[in-house]
Amino acid sequence: MPTKVIKDGTIVTADLTYKADVLVEDGKIIEIGQGLKGDETLDASGCYVMPGGIDPHTHLEMPFMGTYSSDDFESGTRAALAGGTTMVVDFALPNPGESLLDALKRWDNKSTSASCDYSFHMAVTWWGEQVFNEMETVVKERGINTFKHFLAYKGALMVNDDELYSSFMRLAELGATPMVHAENGDVVAELSAKLLAEGNTGPEAHAYSRPPQVEGEATNRAIMIADMAGAPLYVVHVSCEESHEAIRRAKMQGKRVWGEPLIQHLTLDESEYFNKDWDHAARRVMSPPFRNKQHQDSLWAGLGSGTLSVVATDHCAFTTEQKRYGVGDFTKIPNGTGGLEDRIPMLWTYGVGTGRLTMNEFVAVTSTNIAKILNCYPKKGAILVGADADIMVLDPEKEKTITADKQVSSIDYNVFEGKHVKGLPRYVLTRGMVAVMDGEMQEKQGHGKFVAREPNATVNKALSKWKELTAPQPIERSGIPATGV
Ligand code: URP
Ligand code: ZN
Ligand code: ZN
Ligand code: ZN
Repeated sequence: MPTKVIKDGTIVTADLTYKADVLVEDGKIIEIGQGLKGDETLDASGCYVMPGGIDPHTHLEMPFMGTYSSDDFESGTRAALAGGTTMVVDFALPNPGESLLDALKRWDNKSTSASCDYSFHMAVTWWGEQVFNEMETVVKERGINTFKHFLAYKGALMVNDDELYSSFMRLAELGATPMVHAENGDVVAELSAKLLAEGNTGPEAHAYSRPPQVEGEATNRAIMIADMAGAPLYVVHVSCEESHEAIRRAKMQGKRVWGEPLIQHLTLDESEYFNKDWDHAARRVMSPPFRNKQHQDSLWAGLGSGTLSVVATDHCAFTTEQKRYGVGDFTKIPNGTGGLEDRIPMLWTYGVGTGRLTMNEFVAVTSTNIAKILNCYPKKGAILVGADADIMVLDPEKEKTITADKQVSSIDYNVFEGKHVKGLPRYVLTRGMVAVMDGEMQEKQGHGKFVAREPNATVNKALSKWKELTAPQPIERSGIPATGV
């Protein structure tokens, strides 16, 4: 097979920064060193050569709130590649009562058009013997080791605490990792009804109905339930100090918990919901909602200090027309925002560009940490010999102003409209294929492959050993008194 050499760049990984060339063949990195030659040369002078981004949280063509999110695997993975992301992890969502394996078939069918590699998390949207049994097949035969639970969306996707505990217990037994959308769905439902009754019908009421307390409470509850079940826990879309505080405290106590802020929560704040233009505010409705600057500072501090582990997008893009389902009733505005294309340039600009993150921390939270937590490292998330050649070559001098007119995503607006970003991909390689060449797209639809992920990652093994050692034991006693009469 012809080889490609990425020449004269500076390699940046989660722990090292050094000058070297990277040689690629058959979709893999085969050599790293000085003065390498290949059949094709990609000039990376002045650029940083990094593992391609991994977005651990997307919803492509997701059936939700009476419609489907508008970016599918075709446009969504193109948008990912355009922004330097070479793998996405989407959520397979069974309908209540539906077999997990049937839901997976639907996701298998949807994902054949992917241009970059992808994997799935399974969502646990209901509980019963069938779910309990099928979990084993999903983990052992389908290469899925992460399962999301919604504590929000009462009457739809939400599960109760008894179901949560049962599911976490089963996952601990299977060596898989539970994930949680942590908002107290019961309280959100009460607050929403009250707001509507008081005439608060606009998109700003979405934010009022989901204050940080509902997130802090649910995060802490999920952490404690996971601890009692003996499972690690991954908390998706952490948006506020209350949730971060619960995660931070748990980590300091030795609990195995990871937190995932989104690029949207890091860079956009709640004032978006007070915009006089209904469309502007509704386009930014997502759960949890955007917060104030103090919460943003907390999230940035968490990334720098390591109490928060990864940055995702929760890409779930609805058009303006779809958002308008909620005119007159904010609870009917489809929840979700886009970001796949913008995560890397936005985090580089507002993280590395401001000194909030080092380049190595940037690589960790956009790629390497994610691959480790999801147990697909070093196939993904690494610039190492033998790793998949999923590579982003970032030109730190290249800049643009984000605008919906020029985006790949299929929706008609962009929540980051007007933001100026500096640091954009010069090349993006997906398993060795150049999908972005000098900033121009040349991806191949259907090139993406499913990435199977094994259970029993090192953290799962260590935690189950600790839980076994510290499990309740009967005390051996002699001279037990006779039972009383
Ligand atoms: O508002 C959001 N986050 N929509 C996508 C579904 C979810 O809750 O992750
Ligand atoms: Zn060859
Ligand atoms: Zn969620
Ligand atoms: Zn989500």
